[in-house]
Amino acid sequence: MMAAMEQQQIADLVAAAGEARENAHAPYSGYLVGAAALTADGRIFTGCNVENASYGLSVCAERHAIAAAVAAGCSEFVGIAVVTPSKPPAAPCGACRQVLAEFGDFSVIMANTGGEQVRSTVRDLLPITFDPAVLAAASGKEHEPDRSS
Ligand code: THU
Repeated sequence: MMAAMEQQQIADLVAAAGEARENAHAPYSGYLVGAAALTADGRIFTGCNVENASYGLSVCAERHAIAAAVAAGCSEFVGIAVVTPSKPPAAPCGACRQVLAEFGDFSVIMANTGGEQVRSTVRDLLPITFDPAVLAAASGKEHEPDRSS
């Protein structure tokens, strides 16, 4: 069962995402996005969109937050908040949904700069996934990171 997030956790996560949004590098789209991921050990990792003059290299805020957590050794997630200027609040793009699904099912809070919030889950946003379990089933092995070398 997915752990439900408390009101205070949601408020803290949305606030962190809103702060990260202020650091967005989005000179091409002008669309600033912030994200904040809460890990199972209670830590918050943030990200913002980082665009590039070679447009296709731009990185979304959600993937940035997830990568920051994983780089710090935290890959078990309770929830992620994303803050955009959109009304209603925008949902993570398809690529980000796939990256979230790599780490299981957890809360996704979509918020906007006007204070609106929409709550969902990774599974509801991407109900049929290509995830580690698919590879494991095909090979008969668990797909865990190899830390032997
Ligand atoms: N963007 C995100 O950061 N997250 C999403 O889920 C959707 C889009 C960014 C990418 C780009 O920098 C800008 O928003 C406009 O697409």
